[in-house]
Amino acid sequence: MNKNKVIVVGSTNVDKFLNVKRFPKPGETLHINQAQREFGGGKGANQAIAAGRLAADTTFISKVGTDGNAQFIIEDFAKAQINTNYILISEDEETGQAFITVNEEGQNTILVYGGANMTLSATDVDKNKEAFSDADYVVAQLEIPIEAIEQAFKIAREHKVTTVLNPAPAVELPKSLLSLTDIIIPNETEAELLSGISIHSEKNMHQTVAYFLNLGISTVLITLGEQGTYYATKNEAKMIPACSVKAVDTTAAGDTFIGALVSELKPDLSNIKEAIIFANQASSLTVQRKGAQVSIPTRLEVQEAYH
Ligand code: ATP
Ligand code: RIB
Repeated sequence: MNKNKVIVVGSTNVDKFLNVKRFPKPGETLHINQAQREFGGGKGANQAIAAGRLAADTTFISKVGTDGNAQFIIEDFAKAQINTNYILISEDEETGQAFITVNEEGQNTILVYGGANMTLSATDVDKNKEAFSDADYVVAQLEIPIEAIEQAFKIAREHKVTTVLNPAPAVELPKSLLSLTDIIIPNETEAELLSGISIHSEKNMHQTVAYFLNLGISTVLITLGEQGTYYATKNEAKMIPACSVKAVDTTAAGDTFIGALVSELKPDLSNIKEAIIFANQASSLTVQRKGAQVSIPTRLEVQEAYH
C-alpha cells in the first residue's frame, strides 16, 4: 500500500472523563457514575493517532509542558508509528488539559485548558519546516494559535501540499486563514458559526457550502454526526450517510473522521467519495467505544468490521 504522508499541526491534551446520567443544570451538584484516570487527547493528537493507526505516514507538530503529564501520550504516538521528532517542550506552560463530561446518550461537553498548546508559535512551525517538503496533506485544528496554523499552511502552499482545516472548536476565523485552506471539515455548529447561516434545510446547506467555495476553498465536508457527511465541490454535492450503529461516546468521532480521510484520500482527490465512506466507517467504530484516543480504531479493525 502506498502510504500518504500526513503532517498534523495541533494540540496535545490530557483528558479527564466524567461519566454522568445527564448534564448538570447551572448551580446543580450531581454525582458522577465513574471517576476515571487520565487519557490521551487533544484534537491534534487524536487526529495524528487516527492517521497513524489508519496507516498514513504521520508526523505530529505539537507542544507539551515539562510536567511530564503527556509522556504516556507520546509513548502512544510511537505505538501508532507517528514521527515524534517535532513534539516541542514549553518551559513556561504545562501540558494542555480537557475535562469531558459524557451523558448516558453518549453526548459530551468539553472544557479545554490550552496550556503549552497556546505557546506553539509561527516561529516554532517555521523552524521545523523541513518536515513539510514531501508531504501530501497538512492538517490543523483550532486548539493552537491561529498564527501557527497560518504559518503551517503558508509553508504547505510553498510546497504544493494540500491543506486541511478542521475549524474546531468553533471560533470566528480570519479570511487570511480560510484563503490558505484547500479542504475544510467543520461539523454543523462550526459551519454555522463561520458562515453565519443556520443549516435546517437543503437550501441552507447549499448556501453554507457556497460561502466556503466563494472563499476559494475547493472542497467542503460538513460532518453531521449520525446522519453522515455532506460533501461538496464547485462541480458536485452529495450526502454520504453514516453507518448505523449505537453510539456510547462520540468523543473523537470528528478527529477519527479526519485522520481516516487523509489516510485514505489519494493526493489527486480522485477517490474522495470512497475516502469519505472509509472515514464514516472508522468514526462509527470510535462512537461505539468510550474515550478519545483509546477509541480510535486501526485500519485492520475497520477492514474487519466493514469488508
Ligand atoms: P466530536 O466533536 O464528537 O468528536 P464532531 O462534532 O466533530 O465530533 P460529528 O459530525 O459528530 O463530528 O461526527 C463525525 C463523523 O463521525 C460523522 O460524519 C459520522 O460519520 C460519524 N458519527 C458521529 N456520530 C455518529 C453516530 N451516532 N453514529 C454513526 N456515526 C457517527
Ligand atoms: O475532539 C475531542 C478532543 O477535544 C478531546 O480529546 C479533548 O482533549 C478536546 O480537545
